[in-house]
Amino acid sequence: MSPTASSPAAPTAPRRKRSVVRALLRLWPYVYPARVRVFSAAAIAVVAASMGLAMPLVLKWMVDGPVADGDTGGVWLGGLVLLFVGLAEALLFGLRRWLTARPLARVEANMRDSLYRHLQRLPVTFHDRWPTGQLLSRATGDLQLLRMFLAFGLTFLIVNSATILIGFGVLLAQDWTLGLVLVLPVVPLIVLCALFEQRFSAVARRAQDQMGDLTTVVEESILGIRVIKGFGRHRSQARAFRLLSGELRDTEMHKARLLAGIWLVILALPELFLGAALVLGVSQVADGQLTAGTLVAFMATAMVLRWPVESMGFLLALCNEAATATDRYFEVLDTDIPDEPSGSAAEASRAAPEDPPGDGLRLTDVVFRYPDAPPDTPPVLDGITLHVRPGETMALVGATGSGKTTLLALLPRLHEATSGRITLDGVDTATLSRAEVRERIAMAFEEPTLFSASVGENVLMGGEDADEAALARALRVSQADGFVRALPEGLETEVGEQGLSLSGGQRQRLALARAVVGRPRFLVLDDPLSALDVHTEARVEAALREVLVGTTALVVAHRPSTVQLADRVALLSEGRVAAVGTHTELLRDNAEYRRLMTGESQLSGGRGRPSPSGGPLTAPSRSA
Ligand SMILES: Nc1ncnc2c1ncn2[C@@H]1O[C@H](COP(=O)(O)OP(=O)(O)O)[C@@H](O)[C@H]1O
Ligand SMILES: [Mg+2]
Repeated sequence: MSPTASSPAAPTAPRRKRSVVRALLRLWPYVYPARVRVFSAAAIAVVAASMGLAMPLVLKWMVDGPVADGDTGGVWLGGLVLLFVGLAEALLFGLRRWLTARPLARVEANMRDSLYRHLQRLPVTFHDRWPTGQLLSRATGDLQLLRMFLAFGLTFLIVNSATILIGFGVLLAQDWTLGLVLVLPVVPLIVLCALFEQRFSAVARRAQDQMGDLTTVVEESILGIRVIKGFGRHRSQARAFRLLSGELRDTEMHKARLLAGIWLVILALPELFLGAALVLGVSQVADGQLTAGTLVAFMATAMVLRWPVESMGFLLALCNEAATATDRYFEVLDTDIPDEPSGSAAEASRAAPEDPPGDGLRLTDVVFRYPDAPPDTPPVLDGITLHVRPGETMALVGATGSGKTTLLALLPRLHEATSGRITLDGVDTATLSRAEVRERIAMAFEEPTLFSASVGENVLMGGEDADEAALARALRVSQADGFVRALPEGLETEVGEQGLSLSGGQRQRLALARAVVGRPRFLVLDDPLSALDVHTEARVEAALREVLVGTTALVVAHRPSTVQLADRVALLSEGRVAAVGTHTELLRDNAEYRRLMTGESQLSGGRGRPSPSGGPLTAPSRSA
């Protein structure tokens, strides 16, 4: 069990030099609705910061005026003014927070919403390629970081830059020689910060990607907890986790070291120059060139400026991480959703008579290779031509890895055929929108997936406007009505992640009920009865035969008993249709079919990974 490599195949970081500003500007459409509040908040913060800068001037007036003259009333007045200014500053900062908190939470929610909607629409091939943890970490950690940046980082970047500019203006205006002493270290600071930015951004990106990999391992460990326990793999899984988390820790330590370095410089440099300015100032006061009040005001202003200057390193780091988070966010959002047929083509196909004479399901010369397959491998499906007549049930039989699941996935366009035509009642599925195709075809997968919802809701996902009667019928067909009635709350029982655990056969029967509940024109079943015992299977088959009367169906089957449900059987071998005929015909005429059905001698399992059971291991495709 090798955990996701530290740099997963798909989400590689763009290594070209990227601009932090350009990355962050992409957030604008999301921030746009909150722009008024965000900029008012920044303006308010600038005013608040200016109040902080006004305090030293009040001090100067107090020292040179009332204090020098021994005027107690004046000192009280000055104190009151200081108190008032301080209160106003605090109030304004509070107002800023109040203004931005809600709209920025909405920005975060909207971005998360876009990401989620996009993830739902992205093709199955995308999800085959991207580790889940990478997507999870982008939807949570990265977006949180962005909100923090917008709420805090961006405002203070503006405010502190403004404060620094105004503050140094005040310093220079009071005494330009002293001011110059404090301005001097700013130049090397800016150079150092720029250097720091470059190095930090690479490390920040690495940390965020590693976080994604770590999330993947955690997610897989939790989903696969039974396998891990069953095989006693918790140690090796813990090792894999420790390895990745160790890597992440090293990267975070690297980040911390870089940060510590820049902090040291940012803290120490101004301190040195502040000391120098103090010595110079005191000697000027002694010489009578400078009033004591001016020196006090000067030093107080310098103190006010300390936090804005010091915070710059941190804010730059935050900017950087936010830019990386933006990149990571848009890497997912920029992945194109394949085009739908243009409106007119879809319109034309819809214009066809609503209930055409019916041509059933027809595949013509369909070739398919997985997009990420190495170019020299033969296609998984190589020139499939098959006709399932209207109302007919055809069984699809083939060795493990022969491409049965892949073939079924092409019908509702979970994957797009590389070439060839697939028609439903004569309408080319490529001219229909995916939604229209999926409206006509219902599907049950090898691995029945139930969602965290009630039994009834899980089944009704298969047909939005199915009523109580349809639900009851579907449960009867799949022989699920018995066990559903015995559940603690019947149809209302919660199943899935948080709910009750059902057996594999029970889940399969619910998935089957979901497939038939909407009375689909076309039904596609991937070995839907594999987990059932022979008796239950026989009962499901008898009931299915009833439903399948008006439905055109393609059913993957392994057992002779399931195959007998079908009118005809197609044998898939190495990505081609090797034979079509009735079960009896094929048994008589086809040696490979005979071997598969009677288990005479083991066939070397196609081109797939050898898997003794043909179970979930051979079905890497996920349900949509
Ligand atoms: N998502 C995928 N990406 C690349 N190859 C795949 C993917 N899914 C299946 N395959 C490969 O395609 C072949 C056919 O698989 P599949 O259709 O699942 O076979 P079957 O359902 O007949 O057992 C196998 O060799 C399998 O390894
Ligand atoms: Mg399969």
